[in-house]
Amino acid sequence: EMVEKQGYEHFMLKEIHEQPTVARRFLSDRLKQEEVKMPELEEIWQEDFEKVMITACGTAYYSGQVGRHIIEELARLPVDVEIASELRYKQNFIDEDTLVIVVSQSGETADTLAALEVAQKKGAKILALTNTASSSIARQSDAVVDIMAGPEIAVASTKAYLAMLLGFYLLGLKLAELRGTLSQSELSDYRREILKLPDRIESTLHRTEPQCQKLAETIVDYDSIFFIGRNLDYSLALEGALKLKEISYIHAESYPAGELKHGTLALVEEGVPVFALMTRGKLARKTLSNVEEVKARGGRVIAVASSQLMEERAEDEFYELIKLPVSNELWAGVIAVIPLQLTAYYAAKELDCSIDKPRNLAKSVTVE
Ligand code: G6P
Repeated sequence: EMVEKQGYEHFMLKEIHEQPTVARRFLSDRLKQEEVKMPELEEIWQEDFEKVMITACGTAYYSGQVGRHIIEELARLPVDVEIASELRYKQNFIDEDTLVIVVSQSGETADTLAALEVAQKKGAKILALTNTASSSIARQSDAVVDIMAGPEIAVASTKAYLAMLLGFYLLGLKLAELRGTLSQSELSDYRREILKLPDRIESTLHRTEPQCQKLAETIVDYDSIFFIGRNLDYSLALEGALKLKEISYIHAESYPAGELKHGTLALVEEGVPVFALMTRGKLARKTLSNVEEVKARGGRVIAVASSQLMEERAEDEFYELIKLPVSNELWAGVIAVIPLQLTAYYAAKELDCSIDKPRNLAKSVTVE
C-alpha cells in the first residue's frame, strides 16, 4: 500500500494531488484550441433531442448538478437531474427524444444501472460518463465517455468528480456546437479558457493547501457546518458538504443561499462555520447579503470566492477568505472544489478518522 500511495499518507490526499494530471490527460485527449473531440456524442446525436436527463448517485449525482447548469447555459436544452434510486420509482417523462447521461465512477452502482435500464426501456439514448469503460454501465450504454481519472482508491471521490465536471464542460460545448447555440468565437473563447484549467487547478492546490489545513483545525469542534451558494456555487456546495460528512463525520448541510432565511439560519449561532461559495459574478452580491445575515448571528463565514469578485473586499470581513484564480466563471467548479476537498481531508485528519475507508461506506454500492 505504501508504494501505491507514493509517499502520501492517504490515497485521498494522493488523489487530490493527482487532479492537475487528470485534467491535463483528459483535456489533451479531447480538446484543442480549434475543436472539442466528442465522437461518442456525435454518433448518437439526434436533431430532435428535446431534453436531457442526468442520473447518478452520490458524488456522481452532484457532478450532474453542475452538469445541468453547464448544458442549460451553453446548449439551451432543459436538463433534469435525478438521483438514480429515485428515478427508478417515479413517473418520468423520458422518451425517444431524451438524451440520458448516466454518471458513475465505478460503472457498477446498482441503482444507477437500474435507472439506466428504465430509461432504455423508454427508448432514450444513453450516454455514460464513467471512469470504468469496461463496466456494466458502460457496456449497456449507447455511448461511453471515459473520464480517464485513473483508479480511485479512497472511498470519498475527488479526482473522478473533477474529471466528471470536465466531461460535462466538453459535453456542454459539443452540444452547443451541434445545436448552434454559440457563435464560433464564443466557442473558441470557452475552449481557450478550459485549456488554462490544469495550471489553475495546480496553483490552487499549492496555494490553498496550507490555508485549508489551518482552517480545518479550527472548524472541527463544531457539530454542524453549512455550505451556501447560488446556482453553480450551490451545486458545488452540495459536494463540499458531502466530502466533509463522508470522511470527518461532522454534520454538514448545503443550502441554496437564498433559502437560508427559510430554515437554516435558525441553526446559525455564535461560531458556527458557514462556507459561502462565490464564483458567479452576478450572484456574488446576493450571496454577500446572506453572508451579512450569518455574521449578524455570530456565524464564522469562510468565503470561497474568485479573486476578481473579492478585489474590493477586506480579508477581515470574513473569518477566512479563500481566493480562487477564476477567469471564466462557468469553469470555476474544478477550481473551487479543491479547497473544499482539502478542508474535508484535513478536518478528518485532525479528528483522526479513517480517511480512505470511512465507517459504513463503500467505494461502490452494488446492492439496492
Ligand atoms: C458510493 C461511493 C461514492 C460514490 C457513489 C456513486 O456511495 O462511496 O463516493 O459517489 O457510490 O458511485 P459511482 O461509482 O456510481 O460513481
